[in-house]
Amino acid sequence: MTVLLQDYALPLSRSDLFIEAAYVGGKWATDTDRMEVTNPATGELIGTVPNFGAKQTSLAVDAATAAQKPWAALTAGYRGAVLREWARLVLEHARDLATIMTAEQGKPIAEARGEVVYAASFLEWFAEEARRIDGEVIQPHASDRRLLVRKEPVGVVAAITPWNFPLAMITRKAGPALAAGCTIVIKPSELTPFSALALAKLGEEAGIPAGVLNVVTGDAAQIGDVLTGDPRIRKFTFTGSTSIGKMLAARCMDTVKRVSLELGGNAPFIVFDDADIDAAVDGAIAAKFRNSGQTCVCTNRFIVQEGIYDEFANRLSERVGKLVVGPGLDGRSDQGPLIDQRAVARVSAHVEDAVGRGATLMTGGTTVCGPGTFFSPTVLRDVPADALLCREETFGPVAGLLKFRDEAEAIAMANDTRSGLASYLFTRDLDRSIRMTEALEYGMVGLNTGVISTEVAPFGGIKESGLGREGSRHGIDDYVELKLVCTAIKTTP
Ligand code: SIN
Repeated sequence: MTVLLQDYALPLSRSDLFIEAAYVGGKWATDTDRMEVTNPATGELIGTVPNFGAKQTSLAVDAATAAQKPWAALTAGYRGAVLREWARLVLEHARDLATIMTAEQGKPIAEARGEVVYAASFLEWFAEEARRIDGEVIQPHASDRRLLVRKEPVGVVAAITPWNFPLAMITRKAGPALAAGCTIVIKPSELTPFSALALAKLGEEAGIPAGVLNVVTGDAAQIGDVLTGDPRIRKFTFTGSTSIGKMLAARCMDTVKRVSLELGGNAPFIVFDDADIDAAVDGAIAAKFRNSGQTCVCTNRFIVQEGIYDEFANRLSERVGKLVVGPGLDGRSDQGPLIDQRAVARVSAHVEDAVGRGATLMTGGTTVCGPGTFFSPTVLRDVPADALLCREETFGPVAGLLKFRDEAEAIAMANDTRSGLASYLFTRDLDRSIRMTEALEYGMVGLNTGVISTEVAPFGGIKESGLGREGSRHGIDDYVELKLVCTAIKTTP
């Protein structure tokens, strides 16, 4: 069978990676109640997945609970080997995974290939970390005591993952969970379930035992209720919007689950007069227009010093005006569609609001005709600080520029938000770079770069942008509990 993915059809070499069933307890589960998944570039139907409710989700929790202790009892080396094989299979099938991803999510196929590699990197990284989950032997507080701290898996994990990175946001959670000896129930976004299901298929082929990894598709509210409410789930992890994250985290408190959250940002991108302007413009394109502006770490506000402001605005606008917008599968587009019509409406509203408050439109600013949900890459200058663009996450391809005079003003503007995920800073002054990186209230700072994400470094935010860190050696911490063994001994025979 060839799965034809709309006009820019790329046949899958493994058509069995396109799966219209959920994955529970090692079995592919279907249901007569179905959900449709469409291609945002064309509005056409790609396929359907089961519309699971609470009952089927509980069966997935049953399976994950039954599998957890046997999985944890295997050696860390064995679990690591399974993860390594999973990563290998993901890379081997990169083309198919990227094709499925672009069809359901919209990002350009080259970006989708990049995400497949990014996703595999978390599996590889945590395959290695599995063997380094070491406990501690502590100097005792009394001569007849011995203190040992064990690191044990938290147990069954539930993960709700977003549509903007349909693979990598799963592996960044499933990698450390499985490495630590946890089992997991994943609910991918209803907009992008096919990437998750293909990933699960490759996990099955890699030797992940039945019940260790489960993927449920369907009704977000009903599934969310089980994943936040079932007492057997000991850890809940979520990537998505701040408002939903707060609501889900509050529900988890009834059963006192461990919670980690990767939520929204409002990233400032600060350019000083002394910056390398070529690097700053390159960085701006990367930090704003990756995934059509639909990442939590995308720049939301460009804060540019007065001496370089006009030149930066003109150069950025010129580059943005040349970006090619079109279906991600055509291989020529730099910018794919936004995920849906709601996203287009929000982005349009932000542009209208900014212009209404006195901002000047330099390029873009319009929806693109056709069946897909496209919005033209946009640059606006002289955006006032009270514009929606500066207060809320735009999550779209709109660069709004604000002017500042001095360092103190830049810091005040950058920190004037309840979010604290990513920030970017361009300067060639060493002292200033140190002062600024210390003053920025963010979990991550890109200094003279617009690209900060990697599996080897801790990803996460402060303030209302989240709890915990993903990736890096710290990424496993949220999946283990510390258990103290305090032993009384006779010090003489
Ligand atoms: C996100 O947008 O949630 C993740 C972005 C990244 O990993 O770079």
